[in-house]
Amino acid sequence: MERLIPEKLPRHIAIILDGNGRWAKKRNLSRIEGHRKGADSVRKIVRACREIGIPVLTLYVFSEENWKRPQEEVWALMELLKDYLRSELKEMLENDIKLMASGNLHHLPQDVYHLLMETMEATRHNSRMILNLALSYGGRTEILDAIRKIMWDYKEGLIRPEDITAERFSSYLYTADLPDPDLLIRTSGEFRISNFLLWQIAYTELYITDTLWPDFAKEDLIMALVEYQNRERRFGLTGEQIEASPCVQEK
Ligand code: IPE
Ligand code: IPE
Ligand code: MG
Repeated sequence: MERLIPEKLPRHIAIILDGNGRWAKKRNLSRIEGHRKGADSVRKIVRACREIGIPVLTLYVFSEENWKRPQEEVWALMELLKDYLRSELKEMLENDIKLMASGNLHHLPQDVYHLLMETMEATRHNSRMILNLALSYGGRTEILDAIRKIMWDYKEGLIRPEDITAERFSSYLYTADLPDPDLLIRTSGEFRISNFLLWQIAYTELYITDTLWPDFAKEDLIMALVEYQNRERRFGLTGEQIEASPCVQEK
């Protein structure tokens, strides 16, 4: 941690936690065992982000496309999610962590949905860190949902075409109140976005590691942060412009 510069920490880290299945396969275990081990990594990485002082952490835990996986796997993932919410509530309250969720939440089984809402409600006044779970999440659906909401507001006379700036559009997304991610980590070596935060990652720094998610530990997170802090974010400007005014930010 001494290697990190506190003023240059990302405000928002997003993680595509991938590789649970391959982790299990390598050990001749079932995919579900991989997800169970992956849930432990979630616990560890949330704690690490809280200790390091990351204000917002978004974890891609279940995509819209993941509903098409074998039914037993989807069921096991939903059970693990419930276990996680039940077991972590105390820690979230003690550590001042606010839980949020992004995605098509109405698609979730009722018991999962209710437990999620209860946990969000119980933690809603917490302010040290936001843990945002991307659940039943699809980036294209999020954008289409935003367009639908804008059209409804237009019909009600609440918005005019000239009001639609990038900021206003962002306010219609699931992530409305969150800053865009500064750093996106993907584990297990896959070089793709898989329909994650398509709008929000316009200027996000990408970090891909071969480490499988169940093996991803605090030390790996610190390595990603060290690399992030060594990058020069230019937001379309020249290197010289950034050196002259290092505080320049996208927004
Ligand atoms: C990531 O691990 C967890 C979810 C997508 C739910 P995977 O289950 O995708 O693991 P691999 O990619 O098959 O190894
Ligand atoms: C992305 O992982 C979704 C989550 C991590 C929840 P996938 O394993 O579903 O992505 P693809 O299929 O490899 O693109
Ligand atoms: Mg995968």
